Amino acid sequence: MRNLFDIHDWKIVETSFDPKKQMQAESIFSIGNGSFGQRANFEERYSGESLQGSYVGGVYYPDKTRVGWWKNGYPEYFAKVLNACNWIGIDIEIQGESVDLNHATVLSFYRELDMQSSTLSRKVTLRLKSGKELEINSIRFCSMHRNEIAAISYSVKPLNFSGNVKFTPYLDNNVSNDDANYDEFFWEEESQKAGNKKAFVCSKTKKTNFHVATAMRISFWKEKELQEIHPNFATKSLYAENSFETYLEIGTTYTLKKYVAVASTLNHSEFSLVTHAINQVKSAYLTGFDDLLEEHKVAWSNIWENADIQIDGDVAAQQGIRFNIFHLYQTYTGTNEKLNIGPKGFTGEKYGGATYWDTEAYCLPFYLKTADPKIARQLLIYRYNQLDKAIENAEKLGFVNGAALYPMVTMNGEECHNEWEITFEEIHRNGAIAFAIYNYVRHTGDHEYLKDYGRPVLNAIARFWFQRFNWSKAKQAYVMLGVTGPNEYENNVNNNWYTNYIAKWCLSYALEVEESWAKKDKALLSNQELFQWKEMLDKIYFPKLEGTNIFLQQDGFLDKELLNASDIPDAQRPINQHWSWDRILRSVFIKQADVLQGIYLFEDHFDLDVIRDNFDFYEPKTVHESSLSPCVHAIIAAKIGNLDKAYEMYLRTARLDLDDYNHEADEGLHITSMAGTWMSMVEGLAGVRVYEDHVLIDPKIPATWKSYSFKIRFRNNPIQVTVNQEGYVLENFGNDSITYTYKGKKIELCANQTSNSLQLIV
Ligand code: BGC
Repeated sequence: MRNLFDIHDWKIVETSFDPKKQMQAESIFSIGNGSFGQRANFEERYSGESLQGSYVGGVYYPDKTRVGWWKNGYPEYFAKVLNACNWIGIDIEIQGESVDLNHATVLSFYRELDMQSSTLSRKVTLRLKSGKELEINSIRFCSMHRNEIAAISYSVKPLNFSGNVKFTPYLDNNVSNDDANYDEFFWEEESQKAGNKKAFVCSKTKKTNFHVATAMRISFWKEKELQEIHPNFATKSLYAENSFETYLEIGTTYTLKKYVAVASTLNHSEFSLVTHAINQVKSAYLTGFDDLLEEHKVAWSNIWENADIQIDGDVAAQQGIRFNIFHLYQTYTGTNEKLNIGPKGFTGEKYGGATYWDTEAYCLPFYLKTADPKIARQLLIYRYNQLDKAIENAEKLGFVNGAALYPMVTMNGEECHNEWEITFEEIHRNGAIAFAIYNYVRHTGDHEYLKDYGRPVLNAIARFWFQRFNWSKAKQAYVMLGVTGPNEYENNVNNNWYTNYIAKWCLSYALEVEESWAKKDKALLSNQELFQWKEMLDKIYFPKLEGTNIFLQQDGFLDKELLNASDIPDAQRPINQHWSWDRILRSVFIKQADVLQGIYLFEDHFDLDVIRDNFDFYEPKTVHESSLSPCVHAIIAAKIGNLDKAYEMYLRTARLDLDDYNHEADEGLHITSMAGTWMSMVEGLAGVRVYEDHVLIDPKIPATWKSYSFKIRFRNNPIQVTVNQEGYVLENFGNDSITYTYKGKKIELCANQTSNSLQLIV
């Protein structure tokens, strides 16, 4: 696979301008701060192919559902995170000629995303049609320290002329979503105003009534000297600008600094919003660009301190893992309980920025091990807060007695996905939410959470599963009909092994939790209900290939032509871009880990032989056309000692967007699968497992790597793990002693202690 951009340990670098790569680059070089973010569009106008994208966390629009054939139970709308006010805009005009890279000759181009400091910078020299040459240097960031602030420093240097140049910094909310179902415009004008070196635009979303205020302040500099400017102000609907024309001398650098505040009624009252944005931007302006940048860098260095993974000896792998960690923290920082993690974050529109099972199945383990446990707790509370809606959702489908079906896609707890084979059938998502509760408790020991918040969610999910199974007379067992497993390349199948397995596990975990808390606290369920669940547990049906260890993905799996992915000609990959949907559904090819997803979650239930046999059966049939797939395969491959495969899958997940494996980076990045990349390192190569009372480290290291190291949190104690070709060392930076296992023996590691000597890789 060729690399799209240069390999560098902390940076993504592009050294020439290729308009054909612009859309991919806009996604890959995106920046954000957990509250808002945007694609790497140019500040000056660009008339070439581009997706202008600025997104504000939690601000969405219920776009009317579009389907060919309406089915009862479909939601009325699909929640879209909105493309919001373009706040980066700075138009440059030189004696009537606009600066636009699409119409200029680009003499040199350098774009850099520095992941250590989360800054996006660009240095371009260009020649306009008139022959005038100039250099543009820009740097911008979304402050990680002040989550409503961004700043841009934009410099222009005339290279072969002196003359008047017009600068027009502006805010423009006349933007629409590329993925709008009916080309509808989602914004309404609220107010806008421009004044001396400042402006704001406040707009409101139709239907959902979110108000977003974007405010700016500017200053202008000749080299290091602040200049007095007297801009003209202008406004029109959803738009405000300052513009000024000034004489630039050849060879001198002039810099426009633009400070921006983005605030919404997700966090503020409608009445205080504009004043709040104005005050925020004023304070940023008074702080100044350099100091804002400094505090932003400090905030990022605190993140890296806990979350970084260092790999010595493989720069491509190093760049890949940092790119993933970086985008995860740009998307979600855990500071706002109303936000969640959209699969595309702030980098694109597809998937609507809404919440999927991805959060619990992939992202939660990442935040659990790299951040304060409050963040993971907050993600769980988000679902707890939406329990009533999940119960309503199940009621709409005919379930009773407080059974809950969490939505496939949601912004506010309501289902907004509308393909029947997923909306109604891809119900395994309920299981991921229950598993996340279990996972949180084993990492943190927070049993109080389980009592007050976990229990009601677990019980409602268990009720759903209890009703979703039905008794098969023919099989003399409980079966689950008409489901779609994680592998969306098969729909409406019977007895998807993964779904049956996680459903059974949910019932038994809910039982265990309920029975244990009923003794200490009040009982939430009747004995009769618990008895019925117990009764069901031993009689659930699981399809199996008789005489082998293979769990069958679903009842009809063996009827398929059992080809391998290597049988598909390269020119036909990815199959979802070359084959008809019908052909895909009938084929054996697996979009993403399915049986293996279950084996990953419940690996302790199976012997190594069983794990190996299933991996060897399913891996060759998997085309990994979901970004969520390679990470699970990497983890299992490492577990069974297939290091080459683990490394191949690691690189595939780590560099999925950087090298655009699935030819879709232009639409935005796969943010949630980035957590999977992290898992494939920590749980895969490093073999980290967390149990109720101890941690297990079972590391492997690719032959070409010298070493790698990272921190994980166990019971909120940061533990540094360093692995080299000989073995590994642990350091406990926490306040409590922890226990880890080595060669089956439990060893205590006190606070501030380093494991005695190198533990050999066994
Ligand atoms: C995957 C789903 C996932 C969704 C959003 C789909 O392609 O098959 O499992 O939830 O993308 O990431």
